[in-house]
Amino acid sequence: LAETNQPSFIESYEGQEVNIACNHTNIVANEYIFWYPQFPNQGPQFIIQGYKTNTTNEVASLFIPADRKSSMLSMPYASLRDTAVYYCIVSAAQ
Ligand SMILES: *[C@@H]1O[C@H](CO)[C@@H](O)[C@H](O)[C@H]1NC(C)=O
Ligand SMILES: *[C@@H]1O[C@H](CO)[C@@H](O)[C@H](O)[C@H]1NC(C)=O
Repeated sequence: LAETNQPSFIESYEGQEVNIACNHTNIVANEYIFWYPQFPNQGPQFIIQGYKTNTTNEVASLFIPADRKSSMLSMPYASLRDTAVYYCIVSAAQ
């Protein structure tokens, strides 16, 4: 994780869709966008990554606009155990 952006959003919620936005206006062409929740007393855990296109996996979706200067993590089935600090990171490492 070479480059870290101003990250974190602390979110707590109850069983509904949650969207968390992040700005990474200084992103450059070879960098990917990664999201890592960090749960209490645990290390950061990778959840999803993207480059230019919207991406969905079993736990989350990542929406990336054409300019790549921001991204939005969306978790449709969030629950209380998803309460964490969410880090959005841009890095050339994949
Ligand atoms: C991202 O930047 C936009 C435009 O400057 C601002 O309105 C928005 O609040 C910022 N979002 C975050 C999560 O910092
Ligand atoms: C990504 O998702 C957003 C929000 O749903 C949508 O507006 C946008 O068109 C999508 N981008 C692509 C390339 O499909």
